[in-house]
Amino acid sequence: MAELNGKVALITGAARGQGRAHAITLARAGADIAALDICRDLPYPRYGLSSQADLDDTVHEVQSLGRRALALVADVRSASAMEAAVQTTISTFGHIDILICNAGIADMATTWDVTEEWWDVMLDVNLKGAWLAAKYVVPHMIAQQRGGRIIMTSSVAGLKGMAGLSHYCAAKWGVVGLARSLALEVAPFGITVNTLHPTGVDTPLITGMAQAAGMPKAQLVDQLRDGHPLPVDLVAPQDIANAALWLVSDAARYVTGLELKIDAGEMLR
Ligand SMILES: NC(=O)c1ccc[n+]([C@@H]2O[C@H](COP(=O)([O-])OP(=O)(O)OC[C@H]3O[C@@H](n4cnc5c(N)ncnc54)[C@H](O)[C@@H]3O)[C@@H](O)[C@H]2O)c1
Repeated sequence: MAELNGKVALITGAARGQGRAHAITLARAGADIAALDICRDLPYPRYGLSSQADLDDTVHEVQSLGRRALALVADVRSASAMEAAVQTTISTFGHIDILICNAGIADMATTWDVTEEWWDVMLDVNLKGAWLAAKYVVPHMIAQQRGGRIIMTSSVAGLKGMAGLSHYCAAKWGVVGLARSLALEVAPFGITVNTLHPTGVDTPLITGMAQAAGMPKAQLVDQLRDGHPLPVDLVAPQDIANAALWLVSDAARYVTGLELKIDAGEMLR
């Protein structure tokens, strides 16, 4: 499939995990990739984030597919950094056709044990970060008059309550409100906005969250598997990237405001 030839995708959180899978999958379909990540740790979550080497690996994988790739080190919480990153993408590639707001963090604690700093970082990375990316990309998409595709990664935690994850759930529900409202605003310009709602995905986030909560990863995986009508422990980053590929393809040109679950049936119960 090479239906994304000539398209440019800006992907946040692209150094590893689902973001890297999005970058490689879209590049395989013909897109050039602007891969953005923070490449350093934050006080929260209580597990490590990406490194510059991770981001470089994503870039090299895209280039090995014969596509152009740009590495952008930026914190999605920073308006000035996101404005500059979008500007660099435009000056390098000339346009942006696809935005995937994927950067995110998770961590577990009961609501009353969450500190103010912890709450703020959870909301800022997962929700404000998606807003800032859209804020700076959308005016270019409108001016380009080529339409556009925006995907925001929420979670099953953006569709239900989850004990120990209230700060994460609040942010991921917020992403749905942001995406639905933005979808209405940009529809006249031929731009679609959709959200992804994965169950547990086999990425460093799951390993890190278990470790931070002092729980063996196998125990967390057991809990997740018990919630799945389909017999699977964790879905793969590629499962999420396949859903995103469909949303940015011509096949989904009139799909907007969709909350697309990749959840092994979890939300059926
Ligand atoms: N893994 C899961 O089980 C799961 C399930 C549902 C939803 N999600 C969501 O999927 C998305 C991708 O997560 P993942 O599973 O690939 O985890 P991951 O930790 O492997 O990747 C997340 C990436 O986001 C980057 N990032 C974090 N904070 C950032 C910031 N402030 N600025 C820029 N980049 C930042 C990290 O460095 C990392 O490379 C997240 O939004 C996450 O909340 C994950």
